[in-house]
Amino acid sequence: MNDNVRPRRLRSSEVLRDMVREVRLSPKSLIYPLFLKEGTNIKSEISSLPNNFHYSPDRIGEAVEEALKNDVRSVLLFGIPEHKDEVGSQAYAEEGIVQQGIRKIKEQYPEVQIITDVCMCEYTSHGHCGILNNCGVDNDTTLDYLARIALSHVEAGADMVAPSDMMDGRIDAIRKLLDKNGHISTPIMSYAVKYASSFYGPFREAAGSAPSFGNRKAYQMDYHNKREALKEALIDAQEGADILMVKPALSYLDVIKEVKENTNLPLAAYSVSGEYAMIKAAAAQGLIDEYGVMCESAVSIFRAGADILISYYAKELAQAIKKGDIG
Ligand code: PBG
Repeated sequence: MNDNVRPRRLRSSEVLRDMVREVRLSPKSLIYPLFLKEGTNIKSEISSLPNNFHYSPDRIGEAVEEALKNDVRSVLLFGIPEHKDEVGSQAYAEEGIVQQGIRKIKEQYPEVQIITDVCMCEYTSHGHCGILNNCGVDNDTTLDYLARIALSHVEAGADMVAPSDMMDGRIDAIRKLLDKNGHISTPIMSYAVKYASSFYGPFREAAGSAPSFGNRKAYQMDYHNKREALKEALIDAQEGADILMVKPALSYLDVIKEVKENTNLPLAAYSVSGEYAMIKAAAAQGLIDEYGVMCESAVSIFRAGADILISYYAKELAQAIKKGDIG
């Protein structure tokens, strides 16, 4: 052993360890997903996502207030409509559930940054992310609908839109319609690299968005592929995406690194419902320490290269950062 070189020296006190940390975290980098449900006076726990709730528009402010109290200033909105049909008409209705929720939040908390998920699967009777033809989801027909959804969110007051459908060309279609209507400064966060993943299971239960037949493999990505991730990311960047996203996060740290190193847009990672549910379930059985695993998982996603993290643990992570346990 070379006695001069002792890596343990830098681990010898907490102050020193904290000083030489390579990854810094901030609540400013966190986004908290929220679920809106039609009705009044609803705050009901989502069984597949413990400690996350369905809110009716009149009570969504409670969730936003809690997020803000923890310095989490961005929320990602999902909607569960009462009425579903073939063309997902409630997704772009002026009185749609997300549109109602946006207005309510902006009325009470204009300072919060509202990002909306733009997709059709919660709104279509068949549960697919677009308009069907004889062979499946019709890419080009769906583009007009996605653009309409994005525009209706922005007109209701959304600060940013986040298309999660995985149709080809949606960033271009959304950008053009937003611009045509004067919203040239509204950014698009693209779910650019979204895999067909079993980790979405708890979300689909929460959002009632499981496909009624088949699966999403004809539009979401095959998880064997990494080079294709870069292809998707570069296409979306070229179409005018402002922020790119990789989803899921934990099993895709290599993909996060790849996209980060080969693009120049801010990069978000979505730690999805299954990642959250696994930690919760293992902790409930006493098998792991929930707080420790939550912290370690989140840091690993930033260490891989994410600039922004979307997490159902956003508030708890913000608290851990404030305590100095991470970041
Ligand atoms: C909508 C959408 C999904 C998620 C985010 N937006 C589900 C899906 O694609 O099936 C998953 C989020 C999560 O699992 O936390 N398309």
